[in-house]
Amino acid sequence: MFQTKYEINCETLSPERQFYQESYILLEGAIIEVLSRLDIIRKYKITLGDKDPIEHYKSRIKSADSMKEKLIRKNLPVTVESALSQIHDAAGIRVISTFLDDVYCIVNMLKDQQDIKVIEEKDYIHNPKPNGYRSYHMILQVPIHIQNGIRTVYCELQIRTIAMDCWASLEHQMNYKKNTPKITMIQNELKRCADEIASTDINLQAIRDMIYEIQDCD
Ligand code: GTP
Ligand code: MG
Repeated sequence: MFQTKYEINCETLSPERQFYQESYILLEGAIIEVLSRLDIIRKYKITLGDKDPIEHYKSRIKSADSMKEKLIRKNLPVTVESALSQIHDAAGIRVISTFLDDVYCIVNMLKDQQDIKVIEEKDYIHNPKPNGYRSYHMILQVPIHIQNGIRTVYCELQIRTIAMDCWASLEHQMNYKKNTPKITMIQNELKRCADEIASTDINLQAIRDMIYEIQDCD
């Protein structure tokens, strides 16, 4: 039987839809909007004869539990209003590139888009965290057109190389194993590995540039 009315049964809604309520669609909208900009950037670069600057991407809406935990940690009211206005990563996208130049190509092409505002930038590639974490972070303000006008929605974008992503995933697992006696040794090894990865990323970029130069001369 065809459903004639879009009925919402609260009991079957996911915890995220229950928490974000109607604003869930705004968060989805922000992700769709930024992903479509990224797709156009990829297609544009490929059309120019350049390589695709994106290896892959992932997106997520922050889970209700982790949003509530963050609001409490920051002493903010646990409401959908503060989740959307005070916290900037309810909508999040992680872009993985193969080469360092691709990361900055995406950053610059997004910064040139006049209707998307970059309200915060953290270049952890040029200024890595003490533990070795590297990535480029941006908080974007994305316009979402709805019936009564435009709503601006925050979206966190993390852009990093494959090698940086591999490191960050491994390091993230450490957060759940903070009590091991080997913690210092593991942290030191991770830091050493992060620095090696950074130097390998620079070398891979240099080799890529050399290959391109040869191709240009041929
Ligand atoms: P909030 O925005 O309040 O979360 O804090 P912040 O602005 O200090 O965080 P930042 O923008 O530096 O980082 C936000 C996200 O980046 C985190 O939720 C992680 O996904 C990622 N991140 C930041 N630092 C690290 C790190 O040391 N290791 C790993 N694995 N991920 C990190
Ligand atoms: Mg942040």
